[in-house]
Amino acid sequence: MSKYNAGVLVMSDSRHEDIRLDLSGAKIKEILSENGFDVLKHEVISDDLDGIREKLVKWCDEDKLDLIITSGGTGLSKRDNTPEATLEVIDKEVRGIAEAMRSYSVSITKKGMLSRGVCGIRKDTLIINLPGSLKATKECLDYILPVLDHALGILKGSIHNCGSSS
Ligand code: MTE
Repeated sequence: MSKYNAGVLVMSDSRHEDIRLDLSGAKIKEILSENGFDVLKHEVISDDLDGIREKLVKWCDEDKLDLIITSGGTGLSKRDNTPEATLEVIDKEVRGIAEAMRSYSVSITKKGMLSRGVCGIRKDTLIINLPGSLKATKECLDYILPVLDHALGILKGSIHNCGSSS
């Protein structure tokens, strides 16, 4: 079980006025909670680039969340701004997580290649962009979940030796 806290940030122009419409965010929250994460934040905001950037910075710098999972806004439409906002705020990319999710997604559906999601670190926070549909969100989160504790342990300095376990 995880000992880390987390925030769930959903980007959706159509659902940000009523959080009850947000099935993906609710599912992420459920999965993280079931795996021991303390989910301190769950919000749905519009796809506005500045708003996403400001929220990520606040959750990292003021609220000091260990993990931020975003959902939505990673596609090809004009209003999909999540990867750009994330790239603007992170210090380092963690490309392997994004690559692994995309590779797994493409093994399920070729449309998996249409998510431009990125992952990275800002200070002590790991930020992960997931695609927005309930199906895609669940598939990607389930896939990366087994490595999140280890990733956060390294980021926080509590794990120094990666060992050879899977
Ligand atoms: N990844 C998985 N695992 N499963 C999916 O069904 N859908 C794709 C892709 N990634 C999908 C997926 C589709 S159809 C799109 S358009 C992109 O994610 C971007 O989604 P977003 O704009 O909601 O972030």
